[in-house]
Amino acid sequence: MTTIPMYDPLSPEMISDPYPAYARMLEERPIHWHPVMRAWVVVRHADCVRVLREHATFARDPGRTGEEIPDFRQNVQMMDPPEQTPLRQLLVGAMRSQDKDQLFQEAVAFLRGRLTAQEPGEPFDWMATLAAPFALHMSAALLGVPEPDDEAYAEISHGIALRMDAGLAPENIPQGDAARKRLNELGESWFPRPEGDDGLIANLIRRADKEFAGSHYIRNSAAMMFNASYGTIFAMVGNAAHLLATVPGLLPELSVPSHVATGVDELIRYDGPAQGTSRTAVTETEIQGTRIAAGDSVVTLLAAANRDPLVFKDPQDIKLDRRPNPHLGFGSGPHACFGSEFGKLSITAMIHALRDEGLRPCLAAEPTRRTTATVRSLDVLPVRLSR
Ligand code: HEM
Repeated sequence: MTTIPMYDPLSPEMISDPYPAYARMLEERPIHWHPVMRAWVVVRHADCVRVLREHATFARDPGRTGEEIPDFRQNVQMMDPPEQTPLRQLLVGAMRSQDKDQLFQEAVAFLRGRLTAQEPGEPFDWMATLAAPFALHMSAALLGVPEPDDEAYAEISHGIALRMDAGLAPENIPQGDAARKRLNELGESWFPRPEGDDGLIANLIRRADKEFAGSHYIRNSAAMMFNASYGTIFAMVGNAAHLLATVPGLLPELSVPSHVATGVDELIRYDGPAQGTSRTAVTETEIQGTRIAAGDSVVTLLAAANRDPLVFKDPQDIKLDRRPNPHLGFGSGPHACFGSEFGKLSITAMIHALRDEGLRPCLAAEPTRRTTATVRSLDVLPVRLSR
């Protein structure tokens, strides 16, 4: 009999620091049935990779296990190959058409402006003052759409983050679905794009054939991309700044040019925003000798797999030159993040902006975290900037 207490992702201890519990699960309980989520919880890197890649056995699309998906929830993330493939290829193609250098310069300039607007030594909330406006600005710049109202958008994004925890807190579903509908309405307002527009969405429409270009799949997926970008950049800019403020010597070490690229991946491995994702078995199978029945849900804890000692040497240490670093912070398989380059670009821009201004965030008071399990994010991060 194992002595590990039940994995309770929304408990204050887990919200504060889930990594000790992940380490114990990796050692003592690599797979277990969670009675509240009614799902198998899987933590080993190899098992997570298998579940995410073997899409013939593990479905993302709830339609494959008999659930009706209303139109407003239909997007690239809710489909599986082969139906998903042409849509995903279009989105990836439009994503690649963007000028990364220009977006990077814009990101650094935006952040330098925000950093220098702060009174030196005066405390401020990094999340509200910097992470949220930066995430909104960059997501709008990436998609080539107008910046939505910040407060209204923050509410939509939080509603969707709560919806991701539906297995743990089903009471969040109505609020989450309402947020998704508001997001889709926002997405609708971006179509069609004006003449001469060369942004990502304009590019997407040009690449799609006529029938596809007008479909709700494209519009919902564009809206979903905006939120995938906003939510993760917001959370990661916070998680990374928290590490910079609390781990001595991290910022100077990260500022060494040869460490930046591997260092950003390492920060995402070490404390990324995406803690887990789920799939449903469509046929009977087994994981670690445990029988998984057709119709069973499987939660892959990506953030636990990112600390798997079978894959990562000294997993609890930050090694900015870690190579290789096959972390699952961006997922794996047919639903792996295709905004990963842009996500990394945003964190790299933050490091450059701090380095260029010679500034370092220092904790000004205890931070508070959002009570969400799928997305690990700070709510308030009080810092002051020092030279
Ligand atoms: C540091 C930043 C980011 C992190 C940590 C991150 C993480 C992830 C993860 C873990 C997944 C896989 C989810 C699953 O398998 O269920 C994912 C999917 C996705 N991400 Fe990101 N992401 C980031 C930034 C972005 C950005 C900037 C975009 C902008 C377009 C984006 C767009 C997407 C999309 C569209 C998907 C769904 C892909 C599909 O289902 O085919 N992400 N992301």
